Amino acid sequence: MEGGSRWSWWRCGSVVSALVVLLALWLKSPPRAVLDERLDAVLSSLLRAERKVGINNVARPRVAIGFGGCVDLLVDGVSLLNKLGVSPAEQPLHHDYLENAVQLAESFAYFFAPGAAAERFMLNDTLFAELVDGARDLPENRWSIGGNAPVMASRMAAEGCDVLLGGSFSADFNDVLSKHITVAGNEVEEPDIHLILEYPLGASWGRFTSRRANRYIVHSDDHNPYLDAMEEFAGKLEEFKPDLLVVGGLQMMDSFPFKTGEREALFSRLADLLTSSTPQIGIHFEMASFVEESIMKDLLHYVIPNADSLGMNEQELPNLLSLLKGSNITVLSDPNPRVATVLDQMREVYRILNQRSKDAQAGSEANGAQGQVKPLTRLHVHTLAFQAMIVTQASQWKNTMSATAKASLTANRHVCGSNDIDLSKARLIMDDSFSISREEGSQRIPLQETKPVSCWNEEDYEICVAPVLVCTDVYQTAGGGDNISAAGLVLQI
Ligand SMILES: *[C@@H]1O[C@H](CO)[C@@H](O)[C@H](O)[C@H]1NC(C)=O
Ligand SMILES: *[C@@H]1O[C@H](CO)[C@@H](O)[C@H](O)[C@H]1NC(C)=O
Ligand SMILES: *[C@@H]1O[C@H](CO)[C@@H](O)[C@H](O)[C@H]1NC(C)=O
Repeated sequence: MEGGSRWSWWRCGSVVSALVVLLALWLKSPPRAVLDERLDAVLSSLLRAERKVGINNVARPRVAIGFGGCVDLLVDGVSLLNKLGVSPAEQPLHHDYLENAVQLAESFAYFFAPGAAAERFMLNDTLFAELVDGARDLPENRWSIGGNAPVMASRMAAEGCDVLLGGSFSADFNDVLSKHITVAGNEVEEPDIHLILEYPLGASWGRFTSRRANRYIVHSDDHNPYLDAMEEFAGKLEEFKPDLLVVGGLQMMDSFPFKTGEREALFSRLADLLTSSTPQIGIHFEMASFVEESIMKDLLHYVIPNADSLGMNEQELPNLLSLLKGSNITVLSDPNPRVATVLDQMREVYRILNQRSKDAQAGSEANGAQGQVKPLTRLHVHTLAFQAMIVTQASQWKNTMSATAKASLTANRHVCGSNDIDLSKARLIMDDSFSISREEGSQRIPLQETKPVSCWNEEDYEICVAPVLVCTDVYQTAGGGDNISAAGLVLQI
């Protein structure tokens, strides 16, 4: 009897505590209707901000974009690995490039669990062909135009620009491009294929579970690493007279087995191309997943000094910063960083690069040394939860507030795969307010539903931050950064 009453007390106690927990949850999370109202307000305010400025449709802006491109073969990553019998790695491990299935498993596991975007070169042609054949056989596979340059080109053409695209494509690839895109490059028989292993939030593979939706990319390119459209692109550039020059796709050169001196020669040619363009033309460089330290150094030497604007994600920002500060590559960073952390990293990148520009200027005045280093006037960082931009005041870049809003809307549109934003598939994951720096006593900015893009001035620049209506029903993550960056640029030309 005694035992029985203790039992019922215990049971009663656990019912009470369950009720307390439920009550706490109920008090903590506002009812769905309130949330919906809030999302709705954020969406309509972002749309208003996006529409506030139009792009100049009378004279379509002209944008030249290099380099390369491929066809993306998108599959569910876990299904493909299971189908090919690639068993989950014992231990996640970072590899600069991949030679066999074990390394693939280790490298995939390394990024899959935290849900960080990554892209690796596959040195083993046999294994790559096996992967592609396996992916072709998966019923739910999809093909799409891939590569940073064509994706950015397509987005910009869709937004009303005329585009010169530097890349070598096959005839049928050229056919699906917008009529507002002119290709400068050679026609190739076989396009490079990139295998995109997508995974949703909460996917499981062996003992690993993904903490956010993302993708892992494997490629084994023959054309792209050589920037083989560069000469043709350079030849057409002068006549095309772009308002903006965009460079991306250079990560195809990362960890590629070049002959000695080959890569340097390519970079040096690229630097010539960039320095010979009219200084008034803005140059944007889109970063990517780089792991080879020597190629990052080449970027710092040949590319970044010529760029007015940089675009990157939350992984690429700390990687660039750590290199600028003389430390090693950071292969993996927090995939869900706080606003304050990202803004501090952005300020530092902005400060270091502009200091370099001033030093180079002073050096050339003092001793006539060559070496133009453009100041960095625009930095756009795209993360899952928010978009952030730093733009120099009174620089050539217009409409920063609207551009940040557009970038944010594009993030949802791309990932959900629909131009119309469906609020039942959206969620705000940014906090109700954010601190503008990790420094103690920093100002906190509340997220206002009716004015979701926060902009303020500091020193010689403006910062804008916009929350993302994060898509919860993921159609595709690959190409997100390119669509987002391009959408942000369009309103700023
Ligand atoms: C390349 O992949 C094939 C197929 O998976 C494998 O049999 C071979 O051992 C791999 N080669 C190397 C050098 O690892
Ligand atoms: C940086 O990389 C080098 C070479 O891989 C390594 O020896 C060194 O320990 C690394 N330093 C840090 C701080 O991680
Ligand atoms: C992103 O770019 C790709 C390639 O151009 C395109 O297929 C896709 O629809 C774009 N996403 C959005 C939201 O436009």
